[in-house]
Amino acid sequence: MPNSALQKEVAKRRTFAIISHPDAGKTTITEKVLLHGQKLLKAGTVKGKKSGQHAKSDWMEMEKERGISVTTSVMQFPYQNALVNLLDTPGHEDFSEDTYRTLTAVDSCLMVIDGAKGVEDRTIKLMEVTRLRDTPIITFMNKLDRDIRDPLELLDEVERILNIMCAPVTWPIGSGKNFKGVYHLIRDQVIFYKTGQGHRIQEIDVVDGLDNPVLDQRLGEYAQELREQIELVKGASNEFDSELFLAGELTPVYFGTALGNFGVDHMLDGLVEWAPRPLSRETDDGRKIDATTPGFSGFIFKIQANMDPRHRDRVAFMRIVSGQYQQGMKMYQTRLGKEVRIADALTFLAGDREHVEEAFPGDIIGLHNHGTIQIGDTFTSGEQFKFSGIPNFAPELFRRIRLKDPLKQKQLLKGLVQLSEEGAVQVFRPLANNDLIVGAVGVLQFDVVVHRLRSEYNVDAVYENINVATARWVSAESERKLDEFQRKATANLALDGGDNLTYIAPTMVNLNLAIERYPDITFSHTREH
Ligand code: G4P
Repeated sequence: MPNSALQKEVAKRRTFAIISHPDAGKTTITEKVLLHGQKLLKAGTVKGKKSGQHAKSDWMEMEKERGISVTTSVMQFPYQNALVNLLDTPGHEDFSEDTYRTLTAVDSCLMVIDGAKGVEDRTIKLMEVTRLRDTPIITFMNKLDRDIRDPLELLDEVERILNIMCAPVTWPIGSGKNFKGVYHLIRDQVIFYKTGQGHRIQEIDVVDGLDNPVLDQRLGEYAQELREQIELVKGASNEFDSELFLAGELTPVYFGTALGNFGVDHMLDGLVEWAPRPLSRETDDGRKIDATTPGFSGFIFKIQANMDPRHRDRVAFMRIVSGQYQQGMKMYQTRLGKEVRIADALTFLAGDREHVEEAFPGDIIGLHNHGTIQIGDTFTSGEQFKFSGIPNFAPELFRRIRLKDPLKQKQLLKGLVQLSEEGAVQVFRPLANNDLIVGAVGVLQFDVVVHRLRSEYNVDAVYENINVATARWVSAESERKLDEFQRKATANLALDGGDNLTYIAPTMVNLNLAIERYPDITFSHTREH
């Protein structure tokens, strides 16, 4: 393919994920985004927790039972002249490292905030992860059809807690029963909201110009109030600045209601206009591979087993970094130094597996995996390098795992190590005893592991509580210091699934004391694959 054609494909792609606290409206927004992408003719089929309808992205049986999304799916749809890839992230009470790692495979994020609640815990955590790569963030203040908090106060909270500047692009006109629409600060347009249009694309009802007398007719005395308010907002907030946005320092903010399908298109307009084209990625030898480099390359950020009971295989999700994927092409798996032919990669239309003939930087493809692919693996068209920056995150929840049948210890360990290679969960073996500790980022992962141990490894296991608050990977410049530390702190040390030394802390206080006491030891919250 000539390079100009590749450049054209690259210029079209926008790859993003949604970050939010549970119940802020991620699923509803996804639904409306797809409606605008016209993939689903009638939005409302993505999920219905209560109605018993399930998201197309809900694959696993367990998800169906719980009505939540535990897997990360990928949805591709056209919007205007762009081709958008939305990577869905597990978002409910239970989420996993996959959520975190998915954020390393996107070029921008949409942060959804419930306008009545403001910044919540999960959003704070997810934002921390996006900071590892300074990912550009677009913000959507949701649920304007309900009474929300003072919008200026919401912006202030985002700036203060998340440490990112806010540039409102739209500004709400009232909220709750009095929600009339938004004023678009850049287009100088008032866009009116109509209720009861949640399931279709609304006819756009706009009035150009804040000074337009039509506004006085339509909004009555509120028109003048709006003019004054906008004056105030302009004085009190930042103007949108593309450079600061791309550096992850400033977020454009939109107001709307996902349920009422209002404002989502304004946000998508901003996304396709401003969000980065597929970005370059760094390699472990310090190079940057640009999306328009002709040679193919990509990395694995997630491995998912048994998405479809009819295909009992595992699928490795690859983010394409450069070049072009073509059906039947050969790829070089750099960790193994081996060439593999990829007969049929998959693309994901929210759970429907479709075979792709070609794919480009920014796209996600699924490779069939019979146990030879690991998270973090790099594939190229022959060059030897590895993409850096696909981390393991220190788990936040821990359980001791115990067998019902003690004779199956070997299978248990094998299963756990394999599941940890997939990144489903992490396993720790203390140096001081024969316990097996399972660590996860989200509580649902524990159930997933027991379920999969039973169905794939024929092992029945149960959990016991264990007094562990957190874990950190440890390293030191000097081998001698590390040995000394290992002798003194044996009781708190363990090996993870990849035999890396880990400090297991019963309390945060204990961890902080250890950090103080051993200044030559580095305690890391993330570990690169
Ligand atoms: P999540 O994926 O972030 O967890 O949020 P989800 O979209 O499931 O939304 C959580 C709840 O908030 C849902 O109601 C949803 O209908 C509601 N919601 C989302 N956007 C808006 C909005 O703009 N306005 C209002 N008023 N509500 C909104 P639910 O009753 O918990 O579930 P469901 O039975 O409607 O699915």
